[in-house]
Amino acid sequence: MNLVLMGLPGAGKGTQAERIVEQYGIPHISTGDMFRAAMKEGTELGLQAKSFMDKGELVPDEVTIGIVRERLSKEDCQKGFLLDGFPRTVPQADALENLLNDLNKKINYVINITVDKELLMERLTGRRICKECGSTYHLVFNPPNQEGVCDRCGGELYQRADDNEETVQNRLDVNIKQQEPLLTFYKTKGYLRTIDGQQDIHKVFAEIAQLLGDIH
Ligand code: AP5
Ligand code: ZN
Repeated sequence: MNLVLMGLPGAGKGTQAERIVEQYGIPHISTGDMFRAAMKEGTELGLQAKSFMDKGELVPDEVTIGIVRERLSKEDCQKGFLLDGFPRTVPQADALENLLNDLNKKINYVINITVDKELLMERLTGRRICKECGSTYHLVFNPPNQEGVCDRCGGELYQRADDNEETVQNRLDVNIKQQEPLLTFYKTKGYLRTIDGQQDIHKVFAEIAQLLGDIH
């Protein structure tokens, strides 16, 4: 099963990705997570990505395409993959098509999770993430059982550096601009499916699972 999850920042890509990979046993490939891991390790890639991410800008296409190319060539992607937050521009989508052609693979679905932009600011500024296992929570919409502590592993919860109001505003502006041509690209190819991301987290997942039910 080869999937792409699309949606504006805060639409619920990471939240649904956690559930999809658990249910279907495919690797979760999040370019945002890969950049954050590189930043934590202090690598050249991390330093480069940080300068863009801190401002809410996109990391340049050649850098992003390079890390995805490397990741998709790994053994565990033979059984399928879930791309989360990639592609985000038409050149990235073009590069992905070429890459998958070379690997003799095809995308099953591009799932676009839609949420009104007024709600996204609230979702992102209230988000908290587990330091240990990466699980995502929300102070109001999906609170942990115990304040500041992960339900799954007991890890400490933190707020992402780019989840402050100013950076979120720029992330939304930048992504809204890129989104339209990308949606047209995938609509034309016939891959695009839209899911209403304003429903309850479990309902959103149920709709995705229903869509994926017909892939073998
Ligand atoms: P990335 O890490 O991908 O961030 P993003 O796209 O801004 O998306 P988010 O992770 O913020 O949101 P999400 O949709 O995963 O929402 P979540 O599930 O957490 O990218 C970060 C940066 O890296 C970019 O700005 C860019 O600089 C760079 N980058 C990454 N990919 C790139 C690329 N391809 N090209 C260039 N640069 C790239 O949910 C949000 C909150 O809402 C949570 O608190 C959650 O609990 C809550 N929530 C989720 N679903 C629901 C629901 N149904 N109801 C109520 N609350 C909900
Ligand atoms: Zn945890």
